[in-house]
Amino acid sequence: MKVAIIGTGYVGLVAGTCFAESGQDVTCIDVDEEKLQALRLGQIPIYEPGLAELVRRNLDAGRLHFTGELPAAVGPAQVVFIAVGTPEGETGRADLRYVLEAAEQVGRALTHYTVIVNKSTVPVGTADRVHAAIARNTRCAFDVVSNPEFLKEGAALRDFLKPDRVVIGTRSERARELMGELYAPFVGGENPLLYMDPCSAELTKYAANAMLATRISFMNDVAALCERVGADVEWVRQGLGADKRIGSAFLRPGIGYGGSCFPKDVKALMATAREVGMEFDLLRAVENTNTRQKRCLLTKAVKHFGDLSRRTFAIWGLAFKPRTDDMREAPAVELIEGLLGKGARVQCHDPVALESARRYFGDRVTYAPTCYAAAEGADGLFLVTEWNAFRHPDLKRLKATMRSPTLFDGRNAWDPQRAREEGFTYFGIGRTR
Ligand code: UDX
Repeated sequence: MKVAIIGTGYVGLVAGTCFAESGQDVTCIDVDEEKLQALRLGQIPIYEPGLAELVRRNLDAGRLHFTGELPAAVGPAQVVFIAVGTPEGETGRADLRYVLEAAEQVGRALTHYTVIVNKSTVPVGTADRVHAAIARNTRCAFDVVSNPEFLKEGAALRDFLKPDRVVIGTRSERARELMGELYAPFVGGENPLLYMDPCSAELTKYAANAMLATRISFMNDVAALCERVGADVEWVRQGLGADKRIGSAFLRPGIGYGGSCFPKDVKALMATAREVGMEFDLLRAVENTNTRQKRCLLTKAVKHFGDLSRRTFAIWGLAFKPRTDDMREAPAVELIEGLLGKGARVQCHDPVALESARRYFGDRVTYAPTCYAAAEGADGLFLVTEWNAFRHPDLKRLKATMRSPTLFDGRNAWDPQRAREEGFTYFGIGRTR
């Protein structure tokens, strides 16, 4: 099957590469010529484990192509994916400019019946707008399908190649058949292909992300309560997660959710509700808790040290989560800005996000080549991103290098008792052990 993918961002690049891996002939389209040149050499613009190798393998096999020529790629394709960005627009609603522009161009490029698939995260009703934008520009028959993407950064290939489910929103039998054929290698058994109408498919994506964000904020509120009543949230979490109806995923308290999806999608779902006269109060609370949570380590540090000026702090981890260099909405940004604002010095380390961090902090912080170098002379060490490399620190070495041995464990990744035995003052999230 000939497949065209518009947009070589996270979703477009991963989807294109995985479809090529399953044997399809895929052409990825982008407007950024510099990015395209790098991609043709197998150099990818993001950090995602395994992706560069898979891109190279499929380039070499001649199944994956990169081009700036949209009409030439869309014309012969049977399926065209729109996977361009939907940034946060005014009042929290997703900005559909790029999606609708792509749809107009697709319309002009069609040469025969084609299925146009919306992979970008878009508000309810967008499939109709995309349909209208294409219809204005073509006489060919076509169908628009809503097929939201649920992959996680850092595990993108596994999520795409073995998804929990694939959601296909369409009323057209012809489009159903084509989509079923395309996704057949990835689904089956416990991983179903779910067909529904486009509106339900669009809503499913937002509801999934908002539900996960809700679980996280719920646990962060439970953690705050634990600190006040003397319970330990790690025990409570295990007790909750063992209930099969609840399950253990996405129950980890921390310093708030970040990334390019949760904050944006929670806002977008609230905006959608508001447009139809409904206040999604629960999500307002989810957001408020997350805002508080992003500040909680700074609050603990101020309570412990008082004045932070003339203090030095080490930050371990900058990306919004491990296995990515993505710093969008990362809790590290707010923490570091808070520390700098209070006159503290900041020394940070992240296995892959130091370059991304430079765009945020320039030379206002020190970038250390190793985590121990970041801790040199520090009064406190903040664990912000739970990279595996940070999970078992050499506490003796840390104690010898820090000025005052104080740990702020933003991910409950360390053992408080061991830390205290080694002479550290330990602060976690909702921990009283
Ligand atoms: C998310 C969705 O999981 C994915 O399905 C969707 O396609 C895009 O948005 P992603 O943003 O890559 O994926 O990250 P994810 O692994 O879901 O983590 C989101 C945030 O939640 C991170 O900041 C993470 O630290 C936080 N989190 C996650 C917690 O604080 N506790 C948890 O238990 C799990």
